[in-house]
Amino acid sequence: MPTWCPARRRSWCLARSEHADAILAWMQQSPFSRGWVPEAGQPQDVLTGWMRDPDTSCWVVEDDGVPVAYGTIWDDPKEGEAELAHLVVDPARRGRGHGRALVLALAQIAARPGRRVVLRIDPHNDRALAVYVSCHFAILSDAEQEQFNAQQPQLWLARQPAGQASSTPTR
Ligand SMILES: CC(C)(COP(=O)(O)OP(=O)(O)OC[C@H]1O[C@@H](n2cnc3c(N)ncnc32)[C@H](O)[C@@H]1OP(=O)(O)O)[C@@H](O)C(=O)NCCC(=O)NCCS
Repeated sequence: MPTWCPARRRSWCLARSEHADAILAWMQQSPFSRGWVPEAGQPQDVLTGWMRDPDTSCWVVEDDGVPVAYGTIWDDPKEGEAELAHLVVDPARRGRGHGRALVLALAQIAARPGRRVVLRIDPHNDRALAVYVSCHFAILSDAEQEQFNAQQPQLWLARQPAGQASSTPTR
């Protein structure tokens, strides 16, 4: 299993069904993630269904072997894009750099030559925006926001090529 932060022994692995209960509990504790999985029915089945979807890869970050964060990569080869989605950190462990580590890890896993890595956020999610901008994501132009937002009003960001500074967020 790869480790990218030896000092903290942080590592990541593909999410498995035994992670589902913890991930759902993390999601249910924030207004920004609560709606991702319907609470009615069998939310565990929804989550484990994503883990089996061939166009999705679901990742868990562990800190010293303890699961602390979760996020997915949705592949869209036709558009030449990968979208990072459903990023969430254990509420008891936020503010310790796990969110930033998660974003950097997923962006690195998703990166391919010629592929753009994008994500979308609730425009009021200041904390997530700060984390994404610090990981070299920048807000897309107004024209692209309009095009991407035909379905839902969210703020879209794309990772900047290496060496290109992230812009200061403006809304
Ligand atoms: C967003 C989230 C993933 C960040 O995880 P985290 O582990 O807390 O993030 P980190 O510790 O790596 O970094 C937090 C940064 O945000 C900053 N921050 C905290 N609250 C903030 C706020 N209200 N406004 C702006 N910045 C804020 C911190 O100062 C810190 O930056 P610093 O290290 O430069 O000081 C986590 O809060 C979460 O799971 N939220 C609920 C679900 C969610 O919103 N997911 C994103 C959906 S797009």
